[in-house]
Amino acid sequence: MKTQQQAITARGLVKSFGAVKAVAGVDLDLAEGEAVGLLGPNGAGKSTALSMLMGLRKPDAGSVSIFGHAAGSRAARRVTGVTPQAAGFPVQLTPREVLAYAAAHHANPRQSRDLAEAFGVGALMDRRMVGFSGGEVRRVALALAFVGAPKLVFLDEPTTGLDTAAQEGFCSVARAFVQQGGALVLTSHHWDEIEAICDRITMIDKGERVLDGSLDEIRARTRVNRLSFALPDGVMPPDWLGATHSLEGWHVETRDSDGVLRRMVAEGVPFAALSIQPLALKDVIARIRMEATQ
Ligand SMILES: Nc1ncnc2c1ncn2[C@@H]1O[C@H](COP(=O)(O)OP(=O)(O)O)[C@@H](O)[C@H]1O
Ligand SMILES: [Mg+2]
Repeated sequence: MKTQQQAITARGLVKSFGAVKAVAGVDLDLAEGEAVGLLGPNGAGKSTALSMLMGLRKPDAGSVSIFGHAAGSRAARRVTGVTPQAAGFPVQLTPREVLAYAAAHHANPRQSRDLAEAFGVGALMDRRMVGFSGGEVRRVALALAFVGAPKLVFLDEPTTGLDTAAQEGFCSVARAFVQQGGALVLTSHHWDEIEAICDRITMIDKGERVLDGSLDEIRARTRVNRLSFALPDGVMPPDWLGATHSLEGWHVETRDSDGVLRRMVAEGVPFAALSIQPLALKDVIARIRMEATQ
């Protein structure tokens, strides 16, 4: 088997805009065949961090190496695919023309035909882009990231404004890309997308890395189930359950769902429509961060 090369080595990245420290010392490592999800609230510094990795902005401090080359160098750009967060296209051109233009910059570009199909642009290939809807433009922008058969792809909130079919198309292209040895950096607010594509996550908040690890490890750190159930009107759950209420009903988070359920039955708690599910990834992460700050 081909040994995996290091795609990204970033150390101590710092970037300020005036008084705002957008990125305050972020490290990132990524190998071929790996996908990392960059998470964090709006304004956390994700796009700024990406722009330094892509070589679009020069860090105030720190270093980035892309397959051993300086970020933004010709050698780095030749192996890198990008979808900008806001894409502007020459509207008099067709997707076929735009894709061919981008492909011409790469050594072994992919066929734009199969990419167009994967992103649902097939029927639009020869229409001028003037009048394209936001979602249609977005799909072309995504195809653009992959057209050069890159070794590394950066995607900043790629599915914002896409319909479900296009989102699913994107997930399958991204997964196939990583399985075939591509390296991927993705920012997204869609947890299902992160779970479907990424092996690792790096969470940043106020420019600092607050959590980093493989998704499997993160899940293993809190083996917690959530019990959800309804109670008849006017009936309150017993105090020992520590249940919380939401629009969907009552919830209990526990490491011992069997024990809790047995006791509920033994005490005759009149629950209905009970479900037991592992905590969603976003809940696990919220829990880890809460435990860390306690
Ligand atoms: N060009 C800029 N000029 C001034 N402030 C900026 C600029 N770009 C980003 N910022 C600020 O830096 C912080 C991080 O922004 P950004 O990296 O875009 O966050 P994210 O992508 O996580 O939402 C925010 O406070 C944002 O307002
Ligand atoms: Mg952003």
